[in-house]
Amino acid sequence: MHRIIKREELAPKIKLFVVEAPEIAAHARPGHFFVLRMHEHGERIPLTIADSDPGAGTITMVFQEVGKSTCELGTLEEGDSILDIVGPLGTPRDIRRLDTVVCVAGGVGVAPIYPEAKAFHELGTRVISLVGAQTKDMLIFKDRMETVSDEVHYSTDDGSFGYHGFVTGLLRDLLAGGLRPDEVVAIGPLPMMRATCKVTAEFGVKTIVSLNAIMVDGTGMCGSCRVTVDGKTMFSCVEGPAFDGHKVDFEELMARQTRFLAEEKLAMERYKAHAEGCKCRRK
Ligand code: FAD
Ligand code: FES
Ligand code: MG
Repeated sequence: MHRIIKREELAPKIKLFVVEAPEIAAHARPGHFFVLRMHEHGERIPLTIADSDPGAGTITMVFQEVGKSTCELGTLEEGDSILDIVGPLGTPRDIRRLDTVVCVAGGVGVAPIYPEAKAFHELGTRVISLVGAQTKDMLIFKDRMETVSDEVHYSTDDGSFGYHGFVTGLLRDLLAGGLRPDEVVAIGPLPMMRATCKVTAEFGVKTIVSLNAIMVDGTGMCGSCRVTVDGKTMFSCVEGPAFDGHKVDFEELMARQTRFLAEEKLAMERYKAHAEGCKCRRK
């Protein structure tokens, strides 16, 4: 059991939990994720380790309520416990000192990008962060990103804060202005990562994306998370989730990402109908 020692509502439908998980905290590196199960009937939910504190034995997770399982997770309070958490999983990022890195984050993707920006910053790399959200209310991790970045630029789809438009517009302006980073790191929804790769391909800038393919076991056994990278089939849970974005077949991945929509819709409807009696408040 993993006790929730801190719960914060960062934005509408976006929550942060700090959870006791000493073994995972001791080995967590940027790019790692974990899979949790809230209770014995719970679906397996993969989430990125947004931060870790080996001294305190805790990890931080940030999640957006997009369906049945993440909505149920969001009902947990401080003091409640999560049944099991498996991790750290995935191949951590190979982070070295570079001259300049641009971190492009879309929506809740800013939480997974934070440990990478922090690691680059600690090595002395110049970090330029571009953080996009739908509206000002949805911009999260502002203070954290400002602490680990030399510059942060914001965009909102509705123009309520920063640049009016998609975060890829900000990126295009920077690259068109002559900036040539050693690497762009992009984390966010698949269409945003695909759009980022299109922009960076035009300017010939290496781009690493973090793929949120549908995962079940998270350890390379089920094949659910397979993606095509450079024409080869890869399991994103073990060989990723980070890949060279210019080699990812985004069209195939986006099609695969919707393959359980009917089941997910039904699960949400059933959950809403029975939420009162759900088992999510177990300690
Ligand atoms: P559902 O209604 O079941 O699904 C909604 C959509 O979420 C689906 O259409 C599908 O595209 C996606 N999804 C559903 N189940 C899975 C699954 N098992 N694996 C991957 N995607 C799924 N989200 C965050 O908010 N914060 C994170 O830090 C984060 N990190 C992730 C790291 C990895 C390596 C992966 C693979 C995913 C990550 N996600 C993260 C996405 C998160 O796992 C899904 O949003 C969540 O599982 C949706 O579950 P649901 O039952 O609430 O929604
Ligand atoms: Fe099962 Fe990757 S999630 S093989
Ligand atoms: Mg689900």
